[in-house]
Amino acid sequence: MRITILTGAGISAESGLGTFRDAGGLWERYPIEEVATPEGFAADPGKVHAFYDMRRRDAARAEPNVAHRALAELAAARDVVVVTQNVDDLHERAGVQALHMHGSLFEAACTACGATAEWRGDMGLEARCPSCGAAALRPAVVWFGEVPRHLDAIADRLAVTDLFVAIGTSGQVWPAAGFAQEAAAHGAETLEISLEPSGGTFDEVIVGKASEAVPDWVRALL
Ligand code: OAD
Repeated sequence: MRITILTGAGISAESGLGTFRDAGGLWERYPIEEVATPEGFAADPGKVHAFYDMRRRDAARAEPNVAHRALAELAAARDVVVVTQNVDDLHERAGVQALHMHGSLFEAACTACGATAEWRGDMGLEARCPSCGAAALRPAVVWFGEVPRHLDAIADRLAVTDLFVAIGTSGQVWPAAGFAQEAAAHGAETLEISLEPSGGTFDEVIVGKASEAVPDWVRALL
């Protein structure tokens, strides 16, 4: 059985990382257009760097939780692909290499030469590209108006997956919001696990905290 799992901010919430659209979420405190668009970066790169430097520090301090670990256990035993909208590295630190469709906090992209580099500390305005030396780095995350990564690989996988599972995502952001229907159109069963149902079309919905519902589901499957 081929299993494809899409994760969102809800899986990292219990590791202490804020979600976007819940009450008190990141987008309430930081307007999307200011910190998550190319136009916002052009207008005030310092503000955008401060936002991602803060999130990089928070993510570096966070630890994978039992939901990340349960998915790693499942991936070790079954044919599993994890696609994540998250820019943290908690799936990797739990032992799964995920497809990061919205990029990574821990990667820098040079707006001068196009090179990318692993990046662990603050980036800010002064940081220099390790390849060309220009002080022209941006976080290698996908902003609104930019094309998500790995879309071909994801589409290929959705076409052959037997079970599609969305975990901790509100289903508000495309193209990820359409993956369940795409998988279903190719014959997959679909399941959602989340604290609040997204209202999307799934064969089954499990309402609960990721830290409880995900390990329970994995245990039942294995
Ligand atoms: P959201 O903040 O939109 O949704 C988080 C979902 O997780 C909600 O449905 C919550 O009910 C659920 N949730 C919260 N805590 C949970 C818990 N402990 N256990 C299980 N579920 C929980 O986050 P995403 O759907 O990931 O993109 O957001 C998608 C994209 O929108 C992000 O990747 C980001 C954002 O704008 C970009 O920045 C491009």
